[in-house]
Amino acid sequence: MDDYKRRDFIKLSALGFASIALQLNSVTSYAQMANGHLGKWDANTKLNWDAFLEKLSKLAKTQHELPWDQKEYTQKVKKLLLQCDFPEFKNVKKEFDNYENRIPNWFESTSLHNEVDFQVSLFQFEKGEYISHHDHPDMTGVINVVSGNALLKNYTIEEQLKGSRKVLKNGREYLKKRCLLKEIENEVCKARDVSILTAHEGNIHSLMPNEYTQLVDVFTPSYKRTTNSKWYKVNEDGFYQNRKNIFEAEY
Ligand SMILES: [Fe+2]
Repeated sequence: MDDYKRRDFIKLSALGFASIALQLNSVTSYAQMANGHLGKWDANTKLNWDAFLEKLSKLAKTQHELPWDQKEYTQKVKKLLLQCDFPEFKNVKKEFDNYENRIPNWFESTSLHNEVDFQVSLFQFEKGEYISHHDHPDMTGVINVVSGNALLKNYTIEEQLKGSRKVLKNGREYLKKRCLLKEIENEVCKARDVSILTAHEGNIHSLMPNEYTQLVDVFTPSYKRTTNSKWYKVNEDGFYQNRKNIFEAEY
C-alpha cells in the first residue's frame, strides 16, 4: 500500500464512510475556492479561509511521512497563518461578534475546523485569564496572536527527578512525580506574533493574557479522546540549584 493510500485508509477507518464522504466534498470545495487565487501561491498571497484549510490539509499529511520534520512543518504553518487576515474571515468574524465571556476566569474556545490530522481553534481570553503550565502530548502547536498580547512561556523536559508523592483528590489516589523543565521561551506575544511548540521542544507552556486577547491555534494532529494533557506545578521562585533557566516542577 503506498503512502497516499495508507493515509486514506487510516482516515477511512477513523472516521467512517459517512464522514469521509462529507470531508471529500468539502476538500473539493476548498480546491474550487482556492482556484480563485489562480493557483499561483507565494509567501505574499493573501489566503482566504478555504484556501488556508486546503494548504494546511496538504501540509498536515507530512506527519505520516516518517521521520516527520516538525520544525520545518511548524515553520510552514506559521507562514500560512501569517498569510491570513482572520478578522476578515466570515466564520471567524461571526465568532468574534458573538463572543461572550461565559466562563469567569477561564478562556472561551471554539473549534474552527477539526479533522484527524489537525485542528484549528480560536481562543479568546479576558485580561488575566491565566492558563498554567500544561503539555500537548505528541502534538505540535502553532499559536497566532490575532489581537491583544500575552506572556507565553515554553518549556522542554530536561530530566526526571527521583522521588514522588501520593496525593488524595476526590477519594482517588494520584502519584505526583517531579522533573526539571528548561524554559526555552519567555516572551510577550502581540498581534501577528506566532509561538511554536513541537512534541519535543517547548511542548509545555503557560499563558498570561495582559489584556483581552484572541488566538488562532493549529494543533497537529488534532486532540483525540485519549489525549491526556498533563498539568505541571512549576516552582518559578528561582532556578533549580542556580542552573540557568531550569525550574523544578511536579506533575
Ligand atoms: Fe496549550
